[in-house]
Amino acid sequence: MNQDEMKRAVAIAAVDMIRPRLEKETVIGVGTGSTANFFIDALARCRDEFAGAVASSEATAARLRQHDIEVFDLNSVSQLEFYIDGADEFDPYFNLIKGGGAALTREKIVAAVAKTFICIVDESKQVDVLGSFPLPVEVIPMARSYVGRQLAGLEGQPVYRDGVVTDNGNIIIDLHDVDILDPKAFERHLNNIVGVVTNGLFANRGADVILMGTPQGVVTLKPD
Ligand code: 5RP
Repeated sequence: MNQDEMKRAVAIAAVDMIRPRLEKETVIGVGTGSTANFFIDALARCRDEFAGAVASSEATAARLRQHDIEVFDLNSVSQLEFYIDGADEFDPYFNLIKGGGAALTREKIVAAVAKTFICIVDESKQVDVLGSFPLPVEVIPMARSYVGRQLAGLEGQPVYRDGVVTDNGNIIIDLHDVDILDPKAFERHLNNIVGVVTNGLFANRGADVILMGTPQGVVTLKPD
């Protein structure tokens, strides 16, 4: 199985996991990226079995609509049964790095609301310690230089992601080469820098279940 086949397999496994619990009024949260796109495509087969979805990006909203899946504003929804999304890295404790696709802030909001966060990844995303993948930080544009200087004072190298504007109109600074030994504390620390909207660590709200694609098939990981 190549990487895309593993992504497609976990996407189908996620649909199989949630399908028995879908009801006519169920609204689910849907993430962003190539694995999430495979999920949306697989979800289309049961579009009549639930109410619709909240999207974590404009790109995801467009893909959901292409499949005639209704897209809800999060403010009109009191409860999300599931959030299904990919990740750039995950560690043994279900902490994640996300935001490679620059959708981290809306992803974090939707994940916060959802009862169950099902993370869908191929095995290349598995690490012992987070941080090999550059950690995205979404920043208010006028604070770019200030936040860059604050990040430069930490371990690692901040790099402005040239040409990228998030769906919220902000910029991204990626923090390279940092071993994130305490993801919860580091997530809070970065979020306390004035001008930071949020960062791509999903540790204080990590995944509840990870479906990992391997060449041998999909492995379901749950906390002990
Ligand atoms: C987007 C994300 C994605 O979930 C992450 O980048 C993984 O993407 P892919 O499924 O394409 O490997 O956080 O902001």
